[in-house]
Amino acid sequence: MSPLRVGIAGLGTVGGAVLRRLTTDAAALAIRTGRPVEVVGVSARDRAKAGTLPDRAEWFDDAVALARAPDIDVFVELIGGHEGVARDAVEAAIASGKSVVTANKALLAHHGMALAAAAEAHGASLSFEAAVAGGIPAIKVLREALSGNAVDRVYGILNGTCNYILTRMEAEGLGFDACLAEAQRLGYAEADPTFDIDGHDTAHKLAILATLAFGTAIDLDAIHVEGIRSITSDDLAAADDLGYRVKLLGVAQRTRHGIETRVHPTMVAKGTALAEVKGVTNAVAVNADAVAELTLVGPGAGGDATASAVLGDIADLARGSRVLPFGRPADSLERAPRAPMQRH
Ligand code: NDP
Ligand code: HSE
Repeated sequence: MSPLRVGIAGLGTVGGAVLRRLTTDAAALAIRTGRPVEVVGVSARDRAKAGTLPDRAEWFDDAVALARAPDIDVFVELIGGHEGVARDAVEAAIASGKSVVTANKALLAHHGMALAAAAEAHGASLSFEAAVAGGIPAIKVLREALSGNAVDRVYGILNGTCNYILTRMEAEGLGFDACLAEAQRLGYAEADPTFDIDGHDTAHKLAILATLAFGTAIDLDAIHVEGIRSITSDDLAAADDLGYRVKLLGVAQRTRHGIETRVHPTMVAKGTALAEVKGVTNAVAVNADAVAELTLVGPGAGGDATASAVLGDIADLARGSRVLPFGRPADSLERAPRAPMQRH
């Protein structure tokens, strides 16, 4: 069978891990999917940093040119940012009818509806398992596996950097800045870490989850967002004395007044599932009518864990499986009424 030809734009923490795994695990992936996958093009800002490329991979200075290259079947966007080259390249790939795989939650939270509609119009596909909770297959679970459910609530710990910081501050008494610096060194944080610590990254992921869970259009402006910047070791110690841990939660739930969406630090009772989620680990919990409750726990950030999700999307394309980006036609995603926020 002819290989699935992949172009990767962005070779940082995630893109570097994806390229490495697609190169070293190519034979195993071909056996698992029934079709060889070959990296035929790559792009990043700095050619010198990219190192040795696979034999067949051509270098592109311009990610948009890679996205339009005629011999690419799948364009993998791992640059980041909701405007600029990442958006231009994804739009160009979709307009050329290519399959797009991205980990870019900011892009999806801001432009997901338009991108999904464009993908449908051009017969392209748009996959983004890596955009929410790193290695946890939360998108597939909500979009596909739970299709037989009416979801009441989706919530959880959606940012690895924040959970890593809070865990180390609590367990080791380290300062906030030192923990953040370590999260950056480990490749967990966004290029601009204020997105992590001020809660916006969690809001981006929550917007995507809420759209999948409730079939409503992404509405970032409706989300109440508070981050963890002002949390001190004394706050964590006081919570500990009372039998709680502090977690940054994203919560989206159906109410009588509409969909309520919020991101804020929360006191979580020790011994409960979410309180025991530590370090870079994330958790996505769902309350739904048929399954009642399920919680997915796993690595929320980092090169290899996120590459796992990107490779899963590429493998789906190699197998020929395709789904609508949000599991239903983009024009059926209505704006839901905003519900006033209530703390629980
Ligand atoms: P990095 O900053 O590590 O890597 C970004 C890459 O994009 C670099 O190779 C950079 O090139 C390249 N790049 C930047 N600007 C341009 C440009 N104008 N043209 C071409 N290439 C460019 O980011 P991550 O790998 O951490 O994140 C990538 C995406 O994955 C983001 O959307 C992020 O939100 C998402 N994500 C990240 C996770 C993580 O754990 N890190 C987990 C889940 C999602 P150069 O190095 O030469 O500057
Ligand atoms: N910066 C993000 C986090 C990467 O820490 O969770 C994973 O989306």
